Order: sequence, then C-alpha cells, then structure tokens
Amino acid sequence: MKQPLIIALDFSSINDVQQFLMPFQQESLFVKVGMELFYKEGLSIISALKEQNHQIFLDLKLHDIPNTVKQGMKSLASLEVDLVNVHAAGGMNMMQAAVEGLDLGTAAGKKRPDCIAVTQLTSTSDEMLKEQQLITHSMQEVVTHYAALAKKSGLDGVVCSTHEVPSIRKAAGEDFLTVTPGIRMGTDSVDDQVRVATPQLAREYGSSAIVVGRSITKAKDPLKAYYEMLQQWKGERITR
Ligand code: C5P
Repeated sequence: MKQPLIIALDFSSINDVQQFLMPFQQESLFVKVGMELFYKEGLSIISALKEQNHQIFLDLKLHDIPNTVKQGMKSLASLEVDLVNVHAAGGMNMMQAAVEGLDLGTAAGKKRPDCIAVTQLTSTSDEMLKEQQLITHSMQEVVTHYAALAKKSGLDGVVCSTHEVPSIRKAAGEDFLTVTPGIRMGTDSVDDQVRVATPQLAREYGSSAIVVGRSITKAKDPLKAYYEMLQQWKGERITR
C-alpha cells in the first residue's frame, strides 16, 4: 500500500456504484466495500470492481469467537481482496485466528490480504468510552494498547483516527499500517463521525492511508472532490 486514498463505496446497490464510478473511468482506485453494499450484492460487487482494476478494502469488521473468525477469513481470502479487518476488542486469540484463516484461504502464489484491526470507531467519543464502555483509560491509551495487541497478534495494522497515529507509530513502528477514516475538508459536515481530521493533518501525522466516504460520494462533483482531497493528502499539485 502506498499512501492510498480509499473511497468508501457506501451505496446500497451495484447500479449506484457504477453510476458513481462513471467519471472515474480513467482512474485506478482503492475502494472500500462495507456491509451495506456487500450484504446486498455479495460476490458480484467484488468481481465487478476487480474487473475495473480497483484495489479493494472489504470492510466487514469481523468480531466473533476465534474459530468462527478463522473460518470466515478463510472464505474472505478466496475473494482475493487487498485488505480486510476485524475488531481488536475480539482479543489476541481472535486476531491470531484471523491471520491463520487468511493464510489458509490464500491460494498458492497469491498475496494474502492485509489484515487490520479496528481500535475504537471514529464515531466513538471520549464520553462514550467512559459512560457506555466503562473504560477509564484515555482514548489514546486504549487505541495504542489495541494497536500493540494487534501487532503482537501478527496483524498488519489498525484502523484508528488521525489523532492517534503518532502514538501508534511510536509504539508499533513505521511499517505498521494506520488506516484513518473520519476524514473531512474543513468546511464539510462531520455527520455521525466524532474524531475527524483533514487530509492534510492525516499526512502530517503520518497516516498510511485515509478512508473518505461522504465528502466524496455526496459531493456535487465527486471527481473534483476526490482530486481536492488527493491533493491535500499527497501535499502536491495533482493534474487531472
Ligand atoms: O462518510 P465517511 O467518510 O464518514 O465514511 C467513513 C467510512 O469509514 C464508513 O464506511 C465507515 O464504515 C468506515 N469506518 C469508520 N470508522 C472506523 C472504521 C470504518 O468510519 N473506525
């Protein structure tokens, strides 16, 4: 993965996706397929996106007992997507089982999908952590601890907010992936996200990849919004 901007395809049908992707025909994108789209369209959306040469983050956030996650990941590996994820709250045995499942399901000669762990959702606030999860440590401590567990379990990185990237980098090293959603341009609506940041801050803090949904998918001109985001993210002028 080389500093990608991952577009979250949070649509409910393959038709909506194809319509959205129409202006991007010249682009080879890194896209994220989440629950809404995958539960509706299943394997057909994965093959359609692969045919268009897009890289795929299949964001299903597995969180179950280790054996179930292992078998689930074995099945997902056979889809030959690039990136998958689990919830770190499932524990180290579960995370190790996820990697084992991916290894088992990856065909000989193919690259196993990278696997990252969701630390705390970017829609979770400090108050929610304390009042709803009864966690008294700070968000930073919790997320950094989860990142260390994910690394020990053999995962390739974590999903976290931009604000936690520097301490995760310190704890887990430069090669450990930090994939950051909750990305907004200064003027965009925050929606249901809480721990948000601009693409520029994500670059300055050293995120490995940013995930952008509504700021692009709901923009009047999605291609223009994509290029504006990309430019801020890469910190260089990008000509179309
Ligand atoms: O529209 P928006 O840019 O907020 O979309 C962010 C995307 O990233 C959504 O698809 C959401 O499911 C996903 N995500 C997130 N926070 C996480 C993990 C995934 O927002 N911790």
